Amino acid sequence: MKLNYFRILAFAVAMTMCAAPAPAQEEEKTADADSVSAGEALFNKKCAQCHSLAEGRNGNGPSLFGIVNREAAAVPGFKYSRALRQMAADESLKWSEKNLIAFLTRPSLLVPGTRMAFPGMRNEEDLATLVDWIKANSGPPSQEP
Ligand code: HEC
Repeated sequence: MKLNYFRILAFAVAMTMCAAPAPAQEEEKTADADSVSAGEALFNKKCAQCHSLAEGRNGNGPSLFGIVNREAAAVPGFKYSRALRQMAADESLKWSEKNLIAFLTRPSLLVPGTRMAFPGMRNEEDLATLVDWIKANSGPPSQEP
């Protein structure tokens, strides 16, 4: 009689441990994916390996802090290509939204000889989404020229 009681107790304890709930983790993952906007996802996928939006933080590419409507090749201490420096000097190239989109479509077409090793994006909707997101997240609001 006594032995049986312990068996049942052990069985009950084992069942409780097996039934521990698991699905909480999956719910969190979904929430994370939703909180990243389409523009941010594009930036993370295509730009973040080389660029930060934080002021003064250069990587393979220069910081993109306040990039929209500022002069090209203007981050102090970043070693730009001669091509980009020259366009900034000779043509006063500025990163208007229009120029940004042209550059990102195919960097070497707008700036032949650029050091930015990026093949370009052809999807116009993605480009608009990305530039809008950069504009909203790259620092102080920039003035239209
Ligand atoms: C493989 C690294 C790499 C990737 C990926 C990359 N860039 Fe660049 N980017 C660079 C480098 C290097 C330069 C400097 C170009 C030069 O000096 O000619 C640059 C320059 C720029 C400039 C001009 C900055 C200035 O101060 O004038 C902009 C704007 C820019 N990148 C935006 C982007 C965006 C937006 C993306 C994502 C769609 C991107 N880049 C992806 C490396 C990269």
